Amino acid sequence: MSKSLTLVIPTYNESSNIIPLVERIEAALRGHDYEILFVDDDSRDGTADVINNLKNTHPVRVIVRRDEKGLASAVVRGFSEARNEVLVVMDADLQHPPDIIPRLLGAIEDGADISIASRYVPGGGCADWSGVRKLISRVAIFMARLVLPPARKVKDPMSGFFALKRSVLEHKNLQPIGYKILLEVLVLGSYRKVVEVPFQFQLRQQGDSKLNINQEYEYMRHLFRLSRRSGEIARFIKFCLVGGSGVLVNFGLLWLLTERAGLHYAVSAVFAIETSIITNYLLNNFVTFKDRRMPGVKTFIGNMAKFNLVSLGGLVINLAILTFLTEIAGLFYMISNLFGIAGATLWNFFVNNWWTWKDSKN
Ligand code: GDD
Ligand code: MN
Repeated sequence: MSKSLTLVIPTYNESSNIIPLVERIEAALRGHDYEILFVDDDSRDGTADVINNLKNTHPVRVIVRRDEKGLASAVVRGFSEARNEVLVVMDADLQHPPDIIPRLLGAIEDGADISIASRYVPGGGCADWSGVRKLISRVAIFMARLVLPPARKVKDPMSGFFALKRSVLEHKNLQPIGYKILLEVLVLGSYRKVVEVPFQFQLRQQGDSKLNINQEYEYMRHLFRLSRRSGEIARFIKFCLVGGSGVLVNFGLLWLLTERAGLHYAVSAVFAIETSIITNYLLNNFVTFKDRRMPGVKTFIGNMAKFNLVSLGGLVINLAILTFLTEIAGLFYMISNLFGIAGATLWNFFVNNWWTWKDSKN
């Protein structure tokens, strides 16, 4: 028999969905020990009343928030009020089919700390979505992956349907903005194993989606805040400082080899460039990415080769931007070069982050 669990379900104007939802959960979880904890943001359509009317016959509870709004923060409130060791998060509008819950729980019983109902593993999907909505979803996931390494561990870090052990959240101070509670859990939680279970995101039958353009803006804020809280912004700053040190090494050696060793300046430059790439690599390896450094001489050399290759790409990007802005856009070449350096820095940072110092746990 499975451990007892709390389903945390955020609601805002979902009165017509509550009864069918509770009945379908009941059918799916026969034999399980569970409570359903709704967190309602003071809905205008009597959602809380519908839930309270079920109290005597069903294991339901509702918290009504009057001081705060928002899906993700409602879920966090639910986490803190939940009484059981396993937590399941889902929507109230039946777009998350309750018959998937036993599979999520099965994965937890088999040792996963988090199990996600995923649209993007084989067998999953969201059939009714338009091409544009699918594209927006993909772009949002790509952006999360780019700036938040833990989002690279799973195919659907944006799912609002997942299960987790309470221990994942212990001593964690979740402060999500907007909709993406799972992203917050993946970035700040403590866990080892994440499993994805395919599911089909259903059509909404009743009521309206609360997603609007403001959510896109909130999403950006959320990504930025998570980057900061998880240390990724600090990592980027370190990476830029290391780059600056490389410029000094490059200039210093160019001068030394030309003026003191008597080499032709172009020959000096070859040594100066390669040496600065190597010092950059060493500093990044032991400072910027020290948390992801992997043991072994082979990896060390292999990563140095990767870093060189990425730097070569950065050089090409720098040159391309420099000539494009100067020749086509008519900027002064020193100004163009600033943009060139910025472009190359971003390229170097993200590609090294994703490839050279790939998180081995990904
Ligand atoms: N308490 C509370 N407060 N609940 C809210 C709020 C709010 O401000 N806004 C929405 N909800 C509830 C809804 O009542 C519903 O149960 C659930 O959160 C999802 O809201 P929808 O408005 O139906 O969202 P959606 O269908 O557009 O988005 C879903 O898909 C996303 C992936 O594309 C959600 O499942 C998201 O969690 C998911 O990330
Ligand atoms: Mn929905």
